[in-house]
Amino acid sequence: TGNVTLDIGFVNTASCTSAITYIDGDAGILRYRGYPIEQLAEKSSFLEVTYLLIHGELPTAEQLAAFDSRLRRHTLLHEDLKEFFGGFPRDAHPMPVLSSAVSALGTFYQDSLDPFDEEQVDLSTIRLLAKLPTIAAYAYKKSIGQPFLYPDNSLSVTENFLRMTFGFPAEPYDLDPDLVKALDLLLILHADHEQNCSTSTVRLVGSSQANLFASVSAGINALFGPLHGGANQAVLEMLSDIEADGGDVDAFVNKVKNREAGVKLMGFGHRVYKNYDPRAAIIKKTADTIINKDGVSDPLLDIALTLEQRALEDDYFVSRRLYPNVDFYTGLIYKAMGFPTKMFTVLFALGRLPGWIAQWREMIEDPQTKIGRPRQVYTGYTERDYVPVDAR
Ligand code: CMC
Repeated sequence: TGNVTLDIGFVNTASCTSAITYIDGDAGILRYRGYPIEQLAEKSSFLEVTYLLIHGELPTAEQLAAFDSRLRRHTLLHEDLKEFFGGFPRDAHPMPVLSSAVSALGTFYQDSLDPFDEEQVDLSTIRLLAKLPTIAAYAYKKSIGQPFLYPDNSLSVTENFLRMTFGFPAEPYDLDPDLVKALDLLLILHADHEQNCSTSTVRLVGSSQANLFASVSAGINALFGPLHGGANQAVLEMLSDIEADGGDVDAFVNKVKNREAGVKLMGFGHRVYKNYDPRAAIIKKTADTIINKDGVSDPLLDIALTLEQRALEDDYFVSRRLYPNVDFYTGLIYKAMGFPTKMFTVLFALGRLPGWIAQWREMIEDPQTKIGRPRQVYTGYTERDYVPVDAR
């Protein structure tokens, strides 16, 4: 095999250099452009973090205001793109609807094909950031048979998304500031995570010089998988199954330990974090307040807490250094906010979009970039002679 090194799952291989996100998996550190996630979660906003990830610096007040107003002016979808949603079955999962719509969005901006045209890349960046929430809200409205709402540009992108998701055209929508704040925090926590599966996909597709729309669409599909972004949906389904089985957490943990039918403890484990996931630590603090808002408690939260406690004391999980990851609690929070389970991974996509864009742009601007083309270790037949069909 010559000089080829086998590294299944890229456990030890760096595919690029990057100045965007720093992770120390043993110490549980996550920083965007050098800023600790704890500080950004407490003091910043998703809008500001988006700017930071993409442009490398925190914006001045003026830059932030200009960025905000530019985004607000691009939230509308082309009317023909709206027709697109009619082509899906009503029970379609919104993730493939989202990725298809982003792919289709590219066809409305034919000038965006050249990845080295900086002005177009900038415009595509704004369009994607402004329109993905609109697309996500329409995917949801389609699934419940309700009319689409036009965006209202007097609102911020996060506010607008909530209004287009939960509002009705015929009546005013009262924004709940707690909800806006909680969603903003969750989006910040998901905004980038260096070379994870979807981001690596965005870079790999982009390395062929495919444009931003095509690359991000591919990233959304990578995020759909249950081992990646789909985990937040899988966690809630797991908790519901445990509840339906009478709430027997021990029985479930034993199933995982005995590897019955490939059952995993969803929301646990991470390729990089081996002591704790700093995002999970931040979320856990918020989870209680949001979930128990207005005195309504969720029995699934109790199951989650028992399950977490049980796993953290069990040698199977301890010896494998498996801890709750960001998705262990997000599903419960999204549920408390009123989102149906199918929308959870879509919310992850909205959060991760700035990271995908920042990473794609960094790759395109990097003179070292080459097309991504892994090698392999061949294990098939050596040479053999063709056998005619009547002799097989
Ligand atoms: N439940 C039970 N066992 C597990 C789990 C789990 N959640 N995660 C890992 N293991 C076991 C695994 O079977 C292996 O055991 P052994 O060595 O005895 O075969 C050992 O722990 C090491 O795991 P691995 O599969 O080599 O680890 P990985 O780095 O390839 O996988 C992971 C990382 C996140 C895909 C995995 O931990 C997992 O499948 N977790 C559940 C899905 C999940 O919550 N995903 C969200 C990740 S965070 C958000 C995101 O980035 O999308």
